[in-house]
This record gives sequence, C-alpha cells and structure tokens, in this order.
Amino acid sequence: MSPTAASRPRVLSGIQPDFGLHLGNYLGALRNWARDQDRYENYFCIVDLHALTRAPDPQRLRELTLELAAMYVACGLDPARCEIFVQSHVPAHSELCWILETLTPMGWLERMTQFKARSEAQGRERVNTGVFTYPDLMAADILLYDADFVPVGEDQRQHIELCRDLANRLNSQRGDVLKVPAALISTVGARVMGLDTPDEKMSKSIAADRPGHAVMLLDPPDVVRRKIARATTDTEPAVHAPPGPGVANLLEIYAALREVSTDAALAEFDGKSYSVLKGAVADAVIDALAPIQARYAELRSDEDGLRRLLAASAQRVHVVADATLRRVQEAVGVR
Ligand code: TRP
Repeated sequence: MSPTAASRPRVLSGIQPDFGLHLGNYLGALRNWARDQDRYENYFCIVDLHALTRAPDPQRLRELTLELAAMYVACGLDPARCEIFVQSHVPAHSELCWILETLTPMGWLERMTQFKARSEAQGRERVNTGVFTYPDLMAADILLYDADFVPVGEDQRQHIELCRDLANRLNSQRGDVLKVPAALISTVGARVMGLDTPDEKMSKSIAADRPGHAVMLLDPPDVVRRKIARATTDTEPAVHAPPGPGVANLLEIYAALREVSTDAALAEFDGKSYSVLKGAVADAVIDALAPIQARYAELRSDEDGLRRLLAASAQRVHVVADATLRRVQEAVGVR
C-alpha cells in the first residue's frame, strides 16, 4: 500500500469462488474496482466460506479460489494498491460472524430475498443454515475492516442494509464499536443482462447450467463469437429505436467496452442488421478479453507466486481484522 492510501476512504468487496466469472462480473464490478483503485484504500476478498453454502467439491473449491484470485489481478486490481485475500485465511471472519448471529433477530434473516429464493428452491427443511446466516458472515467481512463503502450490485443492497442495522444495533447497545458502512452501487457502467434472458441479470449459476447465457472471461474468441451470435434479439428486421431488451443489452455491452454512450452506440447501429451489431459486439468483447486472458495465463503459470501474494495480504489484513474483533469482544464481554 502506498503511504497515502490510508487517508482515503476504504472500500471492501468480495466475490464467491463458486463458478467462473462472466462479462457481467467484469463490467459491473471488477472493471470499476480497478478503475477506482487510486481513490480508495482497497480490500478485495475471495469469499470461500460463503461458497461452502453450495457444498462444492473440495478440490474444485480450492481451484476456483486460486482462479478467482488470478482473475482479480488479471482484471486490473494491482496487488501493490489492493489487498487481495482469501476469507478463510483470516479466522476473525468466522469469529465475528458468531457474535453477529447473537445480535441478529431471525426475522431479519427470514426477510432476505436470497434466503427466500434458495429455501424455496431447495425446501426449507433441507436448505443449509449457512444459507440462512450468510448475511451475518458478509456483515463480518465488511465490519472487520471498518469499510466506508461496499461496491456491490443492486441485488446486494439488502445485505448491506442488514450489515448497517447490525453495526447500529451494537453501537447503540455498547457505545461506538463499529464503523457503519454504505453501499456503493454504481450507476455508471453496464448492468449486463443474460444473453438468452435479456430481462434477467447475467448470473454465474445460470451460466453454469446454460452456457449460452453468458460470455465467460476465459472463453476463447470462437466461443465468444458463437454465444453472441445466438443472443436473443427482437422480432424487428433490424436495429432501431427504441430497442427491445436483447438489442439494448448488446448495445450496452458494446457501449461499455468501447467507452461510448448508449445513445452513440444506438446511432451507430440504427438500421443495421443484427448480424452487423453482433459482429461488432463480439469484436469488442474479444478485444477486451485478450489482455485479461494473457495476464491470467501468466499468473496461473506461477502458482507459488500467486499463493505468496495471497499469504502476504492475509498477514497484513489479519492485523486490521483482529483489532476490530478485539474491540467487539471487549464490548460484548468475551474478552
Ligand atoms: N454476497 C456477495 C455476492 O454474492 C458476496 C460477498 C460476500 C460480499 N461478502 C461480501 C460482497 C462482502 C461485498 C462485501 O455478491
């Protein structure tokens, strides 16, 4: 970290190593984090304990954890300016989580839309309790580092609200113990929708079932081209205003990658066939992914280097996390 970094507001965010990353993760999260890394003091976590709620194969989880760490760096997060660390390497996350659970009414967790969706899908009797207490662990991730801002997608707003409620609750009971963070929901940059479901946000888990749903960051050029060629469009014969959701999504991807406004993108393709639009979008995606994939391959060829980077970061952030944990332990009387 540069010496001035400590005077900047601190951001913390995390991604689960549960599936590979797609274009929506890049345009909606990683690219923004990288772009803003000189404005903040940066903490980016790979939340492997959260990924356990999907009961992954252990070897696969280890693999995805390293893959995601390499992806953070390949997408532009600079290890000299960002802490890049694995959640499970810092035991304070689990320890603070337990204390937060004792402060969380069941009702708060029962209202979480993510819990409701997964318990409906799997059956309430069968869904694991980690899915239920997931927001407490996420709150621990954030609160341990006194984060000012949490850059996340709109779908995570409810979790950040719960985190704020918990911090406020402890502070009102025991004096000022925790910093109350704010969500940082980017309004610029793309909200990328599914290629086959342009009315739904692009999703890692859907992409794992249906490859045509998303361009993955590690897709080779021919796969990118094929997936975009098959993306849902409108029933109109050509691009025109106002575009339907599928065409709007392609225009948005193009605009975000070529750094033009969506209006400019629409003007550029107005009256053109969908195949012209799709060819241009595929070119833009392939151009953006090439340097990421090259850097990724380099990082993966030096696995020891990658592990050293994660270990060094864990050692530094450990100190910060432990100080907060100690404050909370003292406040509640377990120290
Ligand atoms: N729940 C977040 C998601 O699914 C992942 C996450 C876990 C997270 N801990 C976090 C995000 C802390 C921001 C801060 O996207």
